[in-house]
Amino acid sequence: MSVVLAIETSCDETSVAVVKNGTEVLSNVVATQIDMHAVFGGVVPEVASRMHLEMLYPVLTQALEQAELSSDELDAVAATHGPGLIGALLIGVSSAKALSLAWDVPYIGVNHVEGHLFATFLERPELEPPLVVLLVAGGHTQIVHVKSLGNYEILGSTIDDAAGEAFDKVARYLGLGYPGGPIIDKLSIEGDREAIAFPRGLMNGSFDFSFSGMKTSVVNYVRKFPDAANADIAASFQEAVVDVLVKKTLAAATKVNANAVCIGGGVAANSRLRDRIAQDCSEAGLDYLVPSRAFCTDNAAMIAAAASWRLALDGADELDGGAYPSLALV
Ligand code: KG4
Ligand code: ZN
Repeated sequence: MSVVLAIETSCDETSVAVVKNGTEVLSNVVATQIDMHAVFGGVVPEVASRMHLEMLYPVLTQALEQAELSSDELDAVAATHGPGLIGALLIGVSSAKALSLAWDVPYIGVNHVEGHLFATFLERPELEPPLVVLLVAGGHTQIVHVKSLGNYEILGSTIDDAAGEAFDKVARYLGLGYPGGPIIDKLSIEGDREAIAFPRGLMNGSFDFSFSGMKTSVVNYVRKFPDAANADIAASFQEAVVDVLVKKTLAAATKVNANAVCIGGGVAANSRLRDRIAQDCSEAGLDYLVPSRAFCTDNAAMIAAAASWRLALDGADELDGGAYPSLALV
């Protein structure tokens, strides 16, 4: 089929990957900026753009080296063109378009969320739609019904905070640091997940999510019991979030008769979510995929996977395409 080099710079990870035939990862280099942003307690867009500019060339060089390929062996260059931070996206898009001209290969602009969906096929290329994919990250929380490749239906999404945002806000409130997801995940190991029965939001049969009420419950609980152990609060909060994510995803999979359940996005790196998906899907007799953590968090391999498929289906994009911060999946 093709060898695609993809660039991902939508948020705070500078990543370049080379993928053959849509699923064979020849390299996937990720330079994270987390430490740069941690001191500010969140991603600072201007800092992100500057870091992408600084890191892109070394990351690109490393990706080609690891793939043991030279630029004349590539069939296309792709970049995430949305959604994301405008300045950060523009670094990847402009670079990919320049490389497309310099190397005389087609350019493909990729939707970041479609990239997360395609991460599934990097490890299970044989999976056939219909699939139900739970996408949980800092910026998005959605249950997506992949009816066929390119044909998606959003079954549910958050009506307030994204799941990752809720983890980050609770961690900040507890004074644990940033980003909150991995910190709460680690701290929860020492805590009792049944210590506090935080409310589960919107368990009314809909596939939408609400996390801001859970966050407020944590605040109210700490006000009432200032001496409560952070580990118990973290474990109980994580359990409430995971419980809702897993129950709704499985209900959605049953409703649309999905062949398998998959997860993606930064929060899909969460240990408890990964265990519960495996456990609950096994009990329900549903096939499932819990991808490697490296393919859950932002990476360019998933962008290359989506680009290979888009190139085969729709052909290349024009070089006058831009970056689209609010690009939707459907
Ligand atoms: O997909 P991602 O890297 O970037 C976005 O597209 O947003 O996701 C980042 C989010 C952050 O909110 C972070 O706290 C959360 O994913 N996250 C986690 C874990 N690792 C990252 N949340 C819970 N448990 C984790 N282990
Ligand atoms: Zn993402």
